[in-house]
Amino acid sequence: MMGVKTLLLVSLLAALGVSVPAGSHRGAIMPGSPYNISRNDPRLQQVVLTAAYYYNNQSNDAFLFKPSAIQEAQRQLVKGVRYIVDLQISRTVCHKRDNNKNLSHCDLQPAGRLQQTFQCHFEVWLIPWEKKTQTQVLDCRA
Ligand SMILES: *[C@@H]1O[C@H](CO)[C@@H](O)[C@H](O)[C@H]1NC(C)=O
Ligand SMILES: *[C@@H]1O[C@H](CO)[C@@H](O)[C@H](O)[C@H]1NC(C)=O
Ligand SMILES: *[C@@H]1O[C@H](CO)[C@@H](O)[C@H](O)[C@H]1NC(C)=O
Repeated sequence: MMGVKTLLLVSLLAALGVSVPAGSHRGAIMPGSPYNISRNDPRLQQVVLTAAYYYNNQSNDAFLFKPSAIQEAQRQLVKGVRYIVDLQISRTVCHKRDNNKNLSHCDLQPAGRLQQTFQCHFEVWLIPWEKKTQTQVLDCRA
């Protein structure tokens, strides 16, 4: 079924390697409001890739999906770094069973029956000094 997909994920994640801004350490970051960040932010590129990896891990689609657009991205400094992202993911031509590790080698499906895009909301909270990620929400719908 291609309907609503809601994933609640809690996992260890050192892979993102997100670091706190210079000069801040445990307890020193004032809780802040979310603020917009550039779609070209290098950390954001990793965050949206993580969203796609989670989606692919959970989906039973025969093909891999990858990020195809970022509509809005916010970062919030609150006991770590929180990212709140609205993005689109689209079906690629890569078969899941081929176990392709690098999504940048996977082109999007051409126009046709297999072309599909989902609208997703992703929230991830990275706590660098504990090397972990908490409360990841990935909610995708057609
Ligand atoms: C943040 O980005 C969204 C979407 O691009 C925009 O609607 C909103 O006005 C922006 N907010 C600020 C404070 O720039
Ligand atoms: C991938 O999915 C499996 C089964 O649902 C789960 O046990 C595993 O933790 C997931 N891995 C990631 C990185 O989400
Ligand atoms: C994926 O492939 C691209 C293009 O070949 C390369 O620039 C990038 O470093 C690769 N990423 C990983 C994680 O291997």
